Amino acid sequence: MNILILGSGGREHTFAWKLAQSPLLNKLYIAPGNAGTATLGENINIKVDSFTAVKSLCKDKEINMVVVGPEDPLVKGIHDFFLADADLKNIPVIGPQKAAAELEGSKDFAKDFLFRHNIPTAAYKTFTSENLEQGYTFLETLKAPYVLKADGLAAGKGVLILNSIKEAKGELKEMLTEAKFGSASAKVVIEEFLDGIELSVFLLTDGNSYKILPTAKDYKRIGEGDTGLNTGGMGAISPVPFADGVFMQKIEERIVKPTIEGLKKDNLPYKGFIFIGLIKVDDEPIVIEYNVRMGDPETEAVLPRIKSDLLELFQAVGKGKLAEKTLELDPRFATTVMMVSGGYPQVYEKGKNITGIENVQDSIVFHAGTKIEGSEIHTNGGRVLALTSLGEKMNEALANSFANADKIKFEGKYYRTDIGFDL
Ligand code: AMP
Ligand code: GLY
Repeated sequence: MNILILGSGGREHTFAWKLAQSPLLNKLYIAPGNAGTATLGENINIKVDSFTAVKSLCKDKEINMVVVGPEDPLVKGIHDFFLADADLKNIPVIGPQKAAAELEGSKDFAKDFLFRHNIPTAAYKTFTSENLEQGYTFLETLKAPYVLKADGLAAGKGVLILNSIKEAKGELKEMLTEAKFGSASAKVVIEEFLDGIELSVFLLTDGNSYKILPTAKDYKRIGEGDTGLNTGGMGAISPVPFADGVFMQKIEERIVKPTIEGLKKDNLPYKGFIFIGLIKVDDEPIVIEYNVRMGDPETEAVLPRIKSDLLELFQAVGKGKLAEKTLELDPRFATTVMMVSGGYPQVYEKGKNITGIENVQDSIVFHAGTKIEGSEIHTNGGRVLALTSLGEKMNEALANSFANADKIKFEGKYYRTDIGFDL
């Protein structure tokens, strides 16, 4: 099969790495890809949300399946575009159609879905500029800290957690009346604050049957001890040790099954990944958010633990026959440490020469923001490289990731040396 992966980050390099191991693969294309994906297939420089360019590519390269990495094209309806096109409709797309992608595209939609299907989640109300005053009144009924969420996609920046009611009211006003997050904050979800430890659960589904993939925990803050600004993710650990059998049973019965059943009841076809962001409060799992794709850097820790042929699983998803497949996992820990550009997540420079990748031992190097420049590999983003290691013990695996991060050099390089500290 010829496969097209859309995206350019560590997640997409990991998909490419995993799919390249399948005997079913003929040729792999990645659009736009990075220096890592270029070693596994052919990078094609088109934008992931330029559907007509994706269509031409599919025809030119005789693509048999499209795997969508990021949320943007899904929320914009790439799957629907394929289904509506006579030339494309038989090419399976891994990623939900637009209606279900609203689970990530609109926080209000997601909360409504969760409540409609009795899935545990924080209490909330949604406001617009029309009922700002009622928003203030609702805030007064809550206790600090206050959680405000821009309804739409805001590149991971649309959630604010505020300690004082004065700040919360000020931010609510800015979001609703001054478009703080553009049109994404035309609606704002105000939510009860939940105190606990977070983890993520990933499903692969054909809309009927599902497989629960390995759990993961990511580290979002730039600084050690989970301090400082939010990033796309500085590292990940899989599995999450506190997600034991009893806890996973609760997740499956109270969250996974009602989610899949809810999609069916609401007539929302879904072929792809569901990323459930959860928080454990007093031993009970509560949903914080849905994403309609895999996480990054969680993918870099989750996929290396899947022994089954991912391409075979994707084929089964396309045909609606996932129930016939089994998922085989590697019981070892996978640890991912993300190397980033100095200054990230604020201003940072690109185009720095990266050296030492060839010295890496006992870790997998997944490229996130890299680019080939002549015979060199240059930095091309905030998150640059992810180092994943496997080990019987979490600390063994982590030691390898850190040792290898030390061997790779580029100007301004930074990584957190405390990934997994809280587990
Ligand atoms: P989201 O984009 O919904 O995942 O929110 C981003 C982050 O904000 C989450 O990963 C949590 O750390 C935090 N967060 C979101 N909602 C809540 C909540 N209700 N209570 C506590 N923390 C939250
Ligand atoms: N690492 C969080 C995300 O991919 O949304």
